[in-house]
This record gives sequence, structure tokens and C-alpha cells, in this order.
Amino acid sequence: MPLDITAIRREVPATLTSAYLNAGTNGPLPRGAAAAIAEANQSQLSAGRIGPGIYEKSVAVSDDLRSHFARLLGADDDEIALTHHTTDGMNIAIWGQRYQVGDEIVTTSLEHPGGFMPVYVAAKRYGVTVRVVPVEITDDGVTTAEKVIAAITPRTRLVVVSHVSWKSGVVLPLTPIAEKVHALGGLLAVDAAQSAGAIAVDVRALDVDYYAIPGQKWLCGPDGVGALYVRQERLLETQQTFAGFAALRDGAAYDNGGNYLPGLTAKRFEVGTVYPPTLAGMLASLQWLEALGHTAIYDRVQAITAHCRETMAAIPGVTVYTPPNQAGLTSFNIEGVDPVQAAARLGEMGVLIRSVSNPNLLRVSTSFYNDESDVEKLRRGIEEIISER
Ligand SMILES: Cc1ncc(COP(=O)(O)O)c(C=O)c1O
Repeated sequence: MPLDITAIRREVPATLTSAYLNAGTNGPLPRGAAAAIAEANQSQLSAGRIGPGIYEKSVAVSDDLRSHFARLLGADDDEIALTHHTTDGMNIAIWGQRYQVGDEIVTTSLEHPGGFMPVYVAAKRYGVTVRVVPVEITDDGVTTAEKVIAAITPRTRLVVVSHVSWKSGVVLPLTPIAEKVHALGGLLAVDAAQSAGAIAVDVRALDVDYYAIPGQKWLCGPDGVGALYVRQERLLETQQTFAGFAALRDGAAYDNGGNYLPGLTAKRFEVGTVYPPTLAGMLASLQWLEALGHTAIYDRVQAITAHCRETMAAIPGVTVYTPPNQAGLTSFNIEGVDPVQAAARLGEMGVLIRSVSNPNLLRVSTSFYNDESDVEKLRRGIEEIISER
């Protein structure tokens, strides 16, 4: 059933105050999530943060949250670790390998710091060679995948790529990359900041080893919560970098001689105390999205993004880089206009998009709650900027 966009926008008040076209940075919060956060905060204030049942409730919320993330990705609950954001998950995956001097990590020139920073830092510490595959902003997914595949060698320990490029908006076909790197004995870690909640994901079909997602972008969750999928076969071989009580099999599973039993699930990559209102808010967002229907959401993202892309491409002086039929991002430039200034000017007009550097461009995010009026405001804003040149 198609989504009732008018009703959805009432549930997400920020979509009524501006043309909210920046889920790629931070999605808007739905009322249900804000209420769950407020309720959890109120409970901390009035009932306190410890007492009968409080810890158990927090464990139940975390378990429920892992299940929701697992369903979203086509994973088992045991393969999901709760994190704070995408970058957390990327660090766990990248630091978790047993590198030998001379090993290689293959990545691309269009990665976000959330992916390439842990690569660079780990590489420096372990003497690993980083092969950065040059990708053009105009390369489509197949071309990008071919370039990545060509760079994989028997020395490749890990491939680190984004499922959806935060700069070009292109969806990368992951399965052929996984096939090549697995055949040569390496693994695939995916930065999924721009895919989770925007396109259908099935981690098994994609054949990935690690898939790191944020809550605060396309999934409309609060800041401070995300998830990492760790494929079942990799759970025990992935080294723990951060460790604490949450990573133990149970609270008493250690002795004072240096012995300990880590958890057998992806929970072994969790560490310590978390902020319960954030978890409650994230759970409420995911429950809402599930009730709306993920498939209907993905269909809507495709439809409104196609409309946005066509509208942008029809404006004289606008160059669109993102090919048709990708995820929810469209990258473009306005001839003769600095993207940073254009994004700021659009912001003044109540049109929320962002600029990106290296290469410099503008990026619009269209999600299920956006409608034609948002795209129309963007079109009028760009035309005004062009007239002011
Ligand atoms: C591709 C990509 N990776 C990582 C990040 C960082 O996300 P987080 O703050 O969830 O770590 C972003 C955020 O903009 C992104 O677009």
C-alpha cells in the first residue's frame, strides 16, 4: 500500500517547517521517538536510574533494538552489535583484523572519514599498505566495482567501501566485490551510512562481512545509536578492540589471572553503559518505520528521488552527477556558484541540503517523508540563486 505522505509529515514536524532534504546528514525525528526519549528521561528523573526492574528493562530495549536492526538488514539478532554511530562500527571492523606487515587494505577515493580514518590510523600502526582506488564523481556503480575488484590482490586483508557513496550517491554492487575478496582470502567491511533506511538491504545476498549503520540518518533515530552487522562466521575470528563488561559472556565470566570469556554473539563488540533515552528513541523510530513498511518506504524513496533528479536536471545551469535509480542522494552543481555559498543561501530560504568538498558539490537527500512541494522549493531556490549570480 502506498504511504500516506500527508499523515507521515504530521508525524515528523520538522518536515513542515522547512524543505527537509538532508537525511544524509541527520534525518528528522518522528513524534513517537521524541515521546519515547522524553518518557525515558522523565523516568530517569522521577524514578531514578537504578532500582528494581530498571536494568532489566534496559536490557529488554537493547534486545528489541538488535532484533529490529537485524530484520532491517536480513541478519540474525546474534549478528548485531549496538554501536553509537557508523564510525564506531567501521572502527570495530577495521581494527578487528589480524594484520601482518605487508597486508593491504583496499578502499576508494570517495570514502567518508568514518571509513578512511580508521583505515589510515590502523594502517600506520600495523604497517599495512592502503590502496586508494581513484573513483570519479561520475563513475557509476558497475565501473566503481570493477575498479575496486581490479585492485584486490592476495595481499588484500580487507576491502573498505561505502554501499552508497556520500558524494556521488551511487549504489555500489557489493556482491562481486565480496566474491573476489573472499576468493583471495580477505574480507569486506561496508560503510552503510547512506544505505540503511534508504534502500533494501540483505546482508546475506550482499555477502558482506561487516555492515556498519547509523540510526540518525535515513532511519530517523536520535543521535548516538547505530549498529554493526558482523557475519556469523566472522564473530569469533574478529578481534575485540574495545572491551568491557558488556563484551563478557556474563558478568562473572572472568578471573584475576587474565582469563575471560567474551560473548558468543556480536554483543562481544559492545563495551559499557549507554544512554537509555537514545535507545528508547531509536526503538520507537524503528517500530514506526516497520509499521509503515520498509518496502513502501524504499519505493517512495525511489519515486521522490527520481522526481528530484529529473527536476534538477531540467534546470539550465545545473549539472547532476548522480545516475538515475540509485538511493536517496542526488549530487549536483550550479554553474558559476560556490556550493558552500549555495547551501547557505538555500538554508536561508528554508531549503535544507548540504555541500560536500573534494570534489566540491551540492547534495540533496530525498526520503519517504519528502513530497513534491519540497522539490519545488529546492527548484525555486536554485533558480533564485542563478538569477542572483
Ligand atoms: C558515508 C558516510 N560514512 C560515515 C558517516 C559518519 O556517520 P556517523 O556519524 O554515523 O559515524 C557519514 C555521515 O555523514 C557518511 O555519509
